[in-house]
Amino acid sequence: MYRGRERVFSGAPNGVLVAEASDLAPGQALDVGCGEGADAIWLARRGWRVTAVDLSRTALQRAAATAGPELAGRVAWTRADLTVTPLPAGAFDLVSIQYFPLPRRPGDAVLRRLLAAVAPGGTLLFGSHDPADLSARPGFDPAEYYRHDEIAGLLDDDWAVLVNETRPRTAPAPEGTRHTRDTVLRAQRAPVLGDNGHRRTEGR
Ligand SMILES: C[S@@+](CC[C@H](N)C(=O)[O-])C[C@H]1O[C@@H](n2cnc3c(N)ncnc32)[C@H](O)[C@@H]1O
Repeated sequence: MYRGRERVFSGAPNGVLVAEASDLAPGQALDVGCGEGADAIWLARRGWRVTAVDLSRTALQRAAATAGPELAGRVAWTRADLTVTPLPAGAFDLVSIQYFPLPRRPGDAVLRRLLAAVAPGGTLLFGSHDPADLSARPGFDPAEYYRHDEIAGLLDDDWAVLVNETRPRTAPAPEGTRHTRDTVLRAQRAPVLGDNGHRRTEGR
């Protein structure tokens, strides 16, 4: 996908991320399927330390070149297959999954690893295309991937669902697509409370 074109994405951060993460205090973020890195770069410039993961070496090289030396040390560009790679539990204040094809697996194994990677008090942000704007094509069946509302249905009492909706895209539909709307799930994991009932922040 990346090698065949000089640039695939616009270079601008995703509208869902900007709308939902601008009010979050910076911490550790995981950008799931970071592509050419616009989201990770936006987060890093706002003070986040980002682990930006993708399968594509070409995309990661492009992302690191765009980030430049200014952000060296703030983004760990990491090549991995997130359907099989273990993730540190409770390590990220934000797990951002934007237009990432999150595949169904027995026991929801991949999804559960991503959920477990969110720190107590942290945020899961899942943005994707409205399934109504997608159609099956050879090699891609939308039914093989999670929808935002399904993920919301799998969250237990440890989570507060803050946003679970379909909304118009803030950016124009990418060329050759008819993507007009985004689906958005934003959920917060319960913080760990200390004996005094206040949120405990030490220990990470
Ligand atoms: C549609 S692109 C979205 C990229 C970026 N999040 C954005 O919104 O611009 C999906 C990305 O997920 C990556 N990807 C797909 N499956 C993956 C996997 N199993 N592990 C890691 N990355 C994966 C692809 O290489 C691609 O860069």
